[in-house]
Order: sequence, then C-alpha cells, then structure tokens
Amino acid sequence: MNLVSVIKKKNKTTLFTTPSHSGNLCILHKFYQWYRADISEIDALNPEEALLIAEQKASKIYGTKSTKFLTNGSTSGIHAAILTCCRQGDKILIWDNAHRCHKNGAKLAGAEIIEYNLPYNEDWGIFEAIKPAEVEALIKKHSPKVIVITSPSYEGIVPNINAISKICKKYNVYLIVDEAHGALYPFSDNLPQSAIPYADFTVQSLHKTAGGINPTALLHTNSDLDPLNALNMINTTSPSYPMLATIEANINYLKSKKGKQNIEFLIKQINEIKNSLKNIEFYGDDPTKILIKKEGMSGYRLSELLFEKFYIEDERTNNKSTLLLTGLGTSKAKLDRLKKVLLKIDKM
Ligand SMILES: Cc1ncc(COP(=O)(O)O)c(C=O)c1O
Repeated sequence: MNLVSVIKKKNKTTLFTTPSHSGNLCILHKFYQWYRADISEIDALNPEEALLIAEQKASKIYGTKSTKFLTNGSTSGIHAAILTCCRQGDKILIWDNAHRCHKNGAKLAGAEIIEYNLPYNEDWGIFEAIKPAEVEALIKKHSPKVIVITSPSYEGIVPNINAISKICKKYNVYLIVDEAHGALYPFSDNLPQSAIPYADFTVQSLHKTAGGINPTALLHTNSDLDPLNALNMINTTSPSYPMLATIEANINYLKSKKGKQNIEFLIKQINEIKNSLKNIEFYGDDPTKILIKKEGMSGYRLSELLFEKFYIEDERTNNKSTLLLTGLGTSKAKLDRLKKVLLKIDKM
C-alpha cells in the first residue's frame, strides 16, 4: 500500500498509542483532515513500510541510489549530506554567501570550513556560477574532503555540474549540490540539467518551486555513502505521515503527464512574456526565475513600482535587478497580470 492510501485507510484497531489527539480532538478545527491523517507507527497500517516503498519508488524515478523524504526542508538534507561525508577536522569548501545551512552543517560535523567566493556580475547585481577550472584550482590549493555548490542560485544561475563532478571524482572530493530551487529540473528538457546524476548528494526543496507544502524536500544520493545514520541523528523519531504522504503524491504529480504539462505551460507562458517586452531585459539559466531589469531604473525602483503601483511583490531585489519567482502553482491568470504590468513598465 502506498503512503497516501495508508493515511486514508480506516484503522480498525483500537489505539492506545501516540499521537494523543487520536484524530479525534481537533483543537484547530480548520485542520480537521490533518488531525485525522496524523498517524504514528500503527502496526495494522504499517506506515513505516509504506514510507520505505515510497522512497524506493522515488529512487527509481530520479535514478538514484537512494532518495529520502525530508520534512525539515533542504536545510536538513544539507546537514545530513555534510554529516555523512565529513568527520571532525575534514576540510570542506563552502561558498561564503551560501544559505546558512551549509556552514551550520559543517559546524555540526566539526569540519574545517574553507570559504570560496563567486564572480560578481556588476550589471545585474548577482553572483555568477563557479567555473570548473576554479573548482579544480580550489581543490588543488586546499585538498578538501567535500565541496558544496549551490545550483541554481536564487536568481537561476546554474554552473556546469557535470564538468565539476568529473573534477571532484578525479581528486576524490565529495560533491554536494544544493538544488533547493531546482526541484523541477528532472522533469523538463526546457529547464537546466539537474545535478542528481552527477553529484554525490543533491538536495531539493519541493516547497520552493514544485508545489509542495512547507518544508518538504528530498535528499538524493548517488554515492557509496549512505546518509541514513546522519538522517537518524538529526530527524525526529515521530515523522509527520501527512507531510510524507504529500511528498509521495508530489513526486507522482511531477512525473505524471499532467504535472509535466503544467511545467511546460509555465515555461511557455514566461517565454511569451519575455518575447513581448522590448525594454525590460531578462537574465539567468532558469526561465521560471524571472530576473528583470530596465535601463535607467534601479532594481529597487522597479521593485517599488511593482509593489506600490501594481501590488506585485517580488522575491528579491538588488540595486540592478528584481527577481520574481514562479512555480507549479503560479496560475495563468497571475502570469497574464504580470505580463500586462510589465508591458506598462516597458513603455514608461
Ligand atoms: C539556496 C538555498 N538552500 C537551502 C535552503 C533551505 O531550504 P529549506 O527552506 O527547504 O530548508 C534555501 C532556503 O531558502 C535556499 O535558498
């Protein structure tokens, strides 16, 4: 039985177990269904086994040695990956501006953090991708055990992970890729290549772009190292089965015809927006991350205009450009409205 069915199934046994609400005391009634689905390891339903089967199926879908469902975000996936590769005193290369979970993972492992920086793009106010040659130079200089790379960046900049992984293999360095913002990549040829086939560990947030609920995520392993011990160290022993079931359903949706059509439609609509504008420029490797700028207008001014005049809130802004994030739940109506607004700004 799959996870979704397990939590839907009516349990016939009389429970003297956790959780204490027993699916009966729904303190916040708005979440009634959530309480009903919130089971623990009931023998009669065996959700633990269903979880293992769901993860094995996911591993086949992604072509990994293992894929683990995470209910504490990519944060926990990065921590587990680092804890799996690093021992006390091992050197780990981390981007100095990376999400805080990278350095925190290294601190948990007692590893020696060596920071690297990325080239800065003055025209767009963002960081560019690390080049494979730079990775090789860093490895030669520091002899690290591990390198952690963010791909894509927030703004959708994607390094050549395939080439980087070859260098890492040559020098026996573990490669961990933070693909928190790239959970759609394995499901479309019109998006950048996912790091999953190349990296030892790839971490993806389902909640950021793939329609998942906060903070569902995946840890993909394509290494001989097994992250299970590390996951056991940082994870709760009382997982949320409703959340885990949404991960199973999420992956099934992504690989379904409907899910793939949804992704392609999103990309098509964004490309149409791009093609309709003359003075607003776009940048980045990932079309679902709409990074825009306009000559003579700072990113902050563009953001202010979008918010104050058109009630559109962006994700992130710098002096040069503004970033609008989209994902599987971004409706046609929402993108149509964005197109209209950008057409107006285009003519200003
Ligand atoms: C690049 C990057 N990595 C990791 C994370 C952590 O992801 P999560 O919120 O799923 O724990 C984030 C969150 O913003 C992020 O932007």
